[in-house]
Amino acid sequence: MKAPRLAGDLAAEQRAFLGRNRSRWEEHLARARTFLGEGLRVADPRAPVLVLGAGSGLEVPWRLAPPSTVGWDADPWSRIRTLLRHGRLVPWMFLDLTGGLADLTDLAWRTARQPWSGRLRANRAAWRRLAGLVDTLEPRCATLRAWSREHRPGTILAANVMGQFGVVARRLVERCFAGLQLWDQDPEDPDPLDQALHAWTARAVRAFLGALLECAADLWLVHDRAVIFGDAPVTLGPMTEPWMAQLRADGPLEAADPLAGVDVLRECAGRALAAHQRWIWPVAPGQIHVMEAIRVQPPAGRILES
Ligand SMILES: C[S@@+](CC[C@H](N)C(=O)[O-])C[C@H]1O[C@@H](n2cnc3c(N)ncnc32)[C@H](O)[C@@H]1O
Repeated sequence: MKAPRLAGDLAAEQRAFLGRNRSRWEEHLARARTFLGEGLRVADPRAPVLVLGAGSGLEVPWRLAPPSTVGWDADPWSRIRTLLRHGRLVPWMFLDLTGGLADLTDLAWRTARQPWSGRLRANRAAWRRLAGLVDTLEPRCATLRAWSREHRPGTILAANVMGQFGVVARRLVERCFAGLQLWDQDPEDPDPLDQALHAWTARAVRAFLGALLECAADLWLVHDRAVIFGDAPVTLGPMTEPWMAQLRADGPLEAADPLAGVDVLRECAGRALAAHQRWIWPVAPGQIHVMEAIRVQPPAGRILES
């Protein structure tokens, strides 16, 4: 048996995602496509355009993308699915955007096995030991940084990928432990690995935003701001910060923060905020996502600076 790999995990997840009942997705898809489409429409065609988390192009209106546009998604089927959906064979990067998932998976795989026999020791002691080790990992988005330094993109779309980093990390770790659910569910005694992965996710999201902000590019970011579990109706009040204060519901809500506490607006504080929206996406029964779209522009005159 081999350690799980990101490509296989994302391919399986994307198949499941596309196989879902999409009957309540229209508003989300319309809003995401309008927002990302505007990013593509106003992009300067003289500079490369990057679409991160491009997937199969469900949310990305590729017909508006300048010829200089490059897709980036580690799912090995994403480019071909984009071709099938949009009739366009786009230059593509198939690498992990965080740059840290291979290290995390290798560490989890080794920790979950006896070094001499390779036999699984999927127990709480190994689980807890991994928590301490994860704290030493630093996802740096090195490939994304290197690519951007070399190609100098003028526009970058982050198409609903940032909220995936933590979910994917968690899934890969679980698979290293043969899918055993060793999470400690007691809220009085928080699971140390849960906390370590939360902190890893925060480091990955910050590194990702840092890599984007390092570029003199117009940034169009769409991401899950929150995931709400349960069937209670939820609406959004007027835009306010923090995002929790915008939620309207009759009773208490069970909400998860896929960005692990990172405040995207605060991270982007040095830039001009040109657009900011939130909306509700009913992804599946019992699962509602609060989506956020943010456009931040580079300081005037920097878009094509060399
Ligand atoms: C919610 S889907 C986005 C769908 C896509 N925007 C579309 O229009 O179809 C998230 C995408 O991010 C990709 N992804 C998740 N984590 C990634 C990572 N660490 N590096 C690269 N791609 C990743 C997945 O393969 C998936 O296609």
